[in-house]
This record gives sequence, C-alpha cells and structure tokens, in this order.
Amino acid sequence: MALSFRRAVPDDLPALHALVETAYRGDASRAGWTTEADLIDGQRTDREELESLMSSPTKRFVLGFLSGDGEGDELVASVLVSDEGDAAYVGMFVVRPVLQGRGLGKLVLAEAERIAREELGRRVVRMQVIAQRDELIAWYARRGYAPTGERAPFPYGNARAGAPKRDDLEFVILRKELP
Ligand SMILES: CC(C)(COP(=O)(O)OP(=O)(O)OC[C@H]1O[C@@H](n2cnc3c(N)ncnc32)[C@H](O)[C@@H]1OP(=O)(O)O)[C@@H](O)C(=O)NCCC(=O)NCCS
Repeated sequence: MALSFRRAVPDDLPALHALVETAYRGDASRAGWTTEADLIDGQRTDREELESLMSSPTKRFVLGFLSGDGEGDELVASVLVSDEGDAAYVGMFVVRPVLQGRGLGKLVLAEAERIAREELGRRVVRMQVIAQRDELIAWYARRGYAPTGERAPFPYGNARAGAPKRDDLEFVILRKELP
C-alpha cells in the first residue's frame, strides 16, 4: 500500500477535522480496533485548534494519503510532531477507522519518528495516552515506547476536550529513545 505524506495546509482543515473526529470518538470510531468511544463523548478537537497547531513554527502537522483509482488522493491519516526542546511530542495520530489494522499506523509513526530525528534533531519522542487504553499502550510498547512513570490529569471541565464518561481518566506518558 503506497502511503504518501505532506504537511497540512489550511485547505485541509475540513477533511482533517472530520478525520480526527471520526477516528477518536463516536460510533464511526468503532470501525477501528482502538477508540475512546467508551471513555469520552463529544469533540476531540475543533478547527480553531487544528489551525493554530498547523501554523505553529515548532510543529509539523503531517497528513497521509492513499492514491485512489483516478479519483485523486484520499486523506487517510494524520500525525502532529511538536518540538518540545528536549524531545519531540507526537499527537493527533490517527488512521481512518475502516483502514486500521493494515499497517498504515506503523508507517505513520515511522514518518513521525523520522521527522523528530531528521527535521527537528530530537533523539527522544514522548506522547501521552489515556491510562485506561491498555490495547493502545501495548501497541506502543511493541513499537518501543515505555511508560516514564509520569501521569497527567485529564482536563475535566474543559468542554473543548469532550465529555468524559467516567471520572477516573488520566494520561500516562510514554517515551522512546530513537536509534
Ligand atoms: C492507533 C492507530 C493510529 C493505529 O493505526 P493502525 O493503522 O490500526 O495500525 P497498524 O495497522 O500499523 O497496526 C495494527 C496493530 O493493531 C493490532 N490489532 C489489530 N486489532 C486489534 C485488536 N482488536 N486488539 C488489539 N490489537 C489489535 C495488530 O496486531 C497490529 O499490531 P502489531 O503489528 O504490533 O501486531 C489507529 O488505531 C487509530 O487511529 N486509533 C484511533 C485514534 C487513536 O487512538 N490514536 C492514538 C492516540 S495516542
């Protein structure tokens, strides 16, 4: 499967917003193998946030496209790589739910790690994952990401972060040293 990458531009906002929203939460996300649908309702992000992430000079918002049969390229994945000085931080990492489990996620993560190393000059990648998502933490462990022992609170009360379905959500921080 040929996946191509390029930086996101403002014209991508509607399609990117739809992709991120359907991958993380709600019924559409259940077509994938890992989702927050049982943990959180509501929005994952909004166009304003995506736009500001896209325009930040310390961030690379990268999109993955599959070639269609004469119908142009289809947006199927995204990842955000942020330069945090001592490490690169990976987020907004999604693959279109109906296309998950075919190896695309591994290609996108490898591209994020390449950007961290070659474009940002970082040797460490960090990310945060909801602690209750055991299957996702196991997926990252198979890619070399280990918990640092740090935890971060879920932003309860912030409507922009969605509507949590339980009151014990928190994040674990994962870290990988790049080869
Ligand atoms: C996380 C995500 C990007 C991975 O993308 P993907 O294209 O499915 O990833 P791949 O196809 O490369 O890998 C599939 C893996 O899932 C595993 N898998 C498939 N079905 C599974 C299931 N029901 N339970 C657990 N693991 C499963 C496969 O074994 C494979 O892992 P392996 O290669 O180590 O054996 C994608 O699932 C996604 O967008 N999830 C929703 C958004 C999200 O949670 N993003 C991460 C936020 S930190």
